[in-house]
Amino acid sequence: MELNIKDILEKDEFSKSNIISLLESESEDRTLLFKKSAEIKEKYIGNKVWFRGLIEFSNICGKDCLYCGIRKGNKNLNRYNLSDDEILAAAKFAYTNRYGSIALQSGELESQFITDRIENLLHKIKELSNGELGVTLSVGEQKPTTYKKWYDAGAHRYLLRVESTNQSLYQKIHPNDSNHDFNKRLACLKSLQDIGYQTGTGVMIGLPFQTMDDLAGDLLFMKEFNIDMCGMGPYIEHADTPLIEHAGNLMPLKDRFDLTLKMIALIRIMMKDINIVAATALQAIDPIGREKAVKIGANILMPNITPGKYRDSYKLYDNKPCTDDSAEDCQSCLEARVSLADAEVVYGEWGDSKHYEGRRQ
Ligand code: 5AD
Ligand code: FES
Repeated sequence: MELNIKDILEKDEFSKSNIISLLESESEDRTLLFKKSAEIKEKYIGNKVWFRGLIEFSNICGKDCLYCGIRKGNKNLNRYNLSDDEILAAAKFAYTNRYGSIALQSGELESQFITDRIENLLHKIKELSNGELGVTLSVGEQKPTTYKKWYDAGAHRYLLRVESTNQSLYQKIHPNDSNHDFNKRLACLKSLQDIGYQTGTGVMIGLPFQTMDDLAGDLLFMKEFNIDMCGMGPYIEHADTPLIEHAGNLMPLKDRFDLTLKMIALIRIMMKDINIVAATALQAIDPIGREKAVKIGANILMPNITPGKYRDSYKLYDNKPCTDDSAEDCQSCLEARVSLADAEVVYGEWGDSKHYEGRRQ
């Protein structure tokens, strides 16, 4: 017998077909889903939001992911690399403004120089903040020894999106070579978790060729892998990438947005106490997209604190918001936005994943 949405929402564990029903829910059923996820957020997290000041420190990338605007093969953008002083000034801004943490993100490169550079930056960031600023890294696939070095230098969270857990879809959105290996991605996630990082992953939603079955599989993977943090956003096509050739077959942007909200609501229900980011890409579709995500389950926002002159060049997708703003603008704008979502920004705290704390005990 088919269960109705209300019955499904009362279950402790969702099957794949339950998840698909929830992803396809409409009108009152959809409202029930969002009501449930909002209640769970309130109960396990409270109506709170923590900031991670995002520093996109370089858009130089050694990879060629078919969806990404900063892929190596895109010659149509200016490449930049912030100086150490610029990165440290942005970290200082975050510290002075009592953001609990920063996130360092860049294109993906693997070299001894990068390993040493990031290690040195981590030491300096800890120094300038009396050890108080939390640091998330998001710099892609690296050797386990590199991850360990950075962990020992003070990074304690790592974001590495798996992009899709269906290997055949993964292969359709990446070049088929050893530099874009699905199993390597999984091995990296495992190594991060083993080292002791709060480990975050996520997927893009609304990719060409992606099915509801794939998305349900992604959620089940995250639960099974026991992630601590989740960052998921809508796929948004970029004109200078190979995947643009499938733009005609995509779901409308509005539907990709709605499906992302449902994915966020579902992961909140399935993994009650993890940290969930309200991704910037949501705002590229809906001006109050991130606030909507906060209302139904997200608890992390990443105000951009990259120096303004570089922001326009870190374009992963078209219509990326906030590229003309300064760090101060993003802070006051986001604060107003959070209060619109009836939530409150917590300053001066790391805002660690409660799930991680529970998992480590
Ligand atoms: N649309 C949406 N998200 C994208 N990303 C990269 N390209 C796009 C795009 N075209 C996401 C990927 C990556 C993160 C840093 O940005 O999921 O992991
Ligand atoms: Fe950046 Fe609003 S969040 S300007």
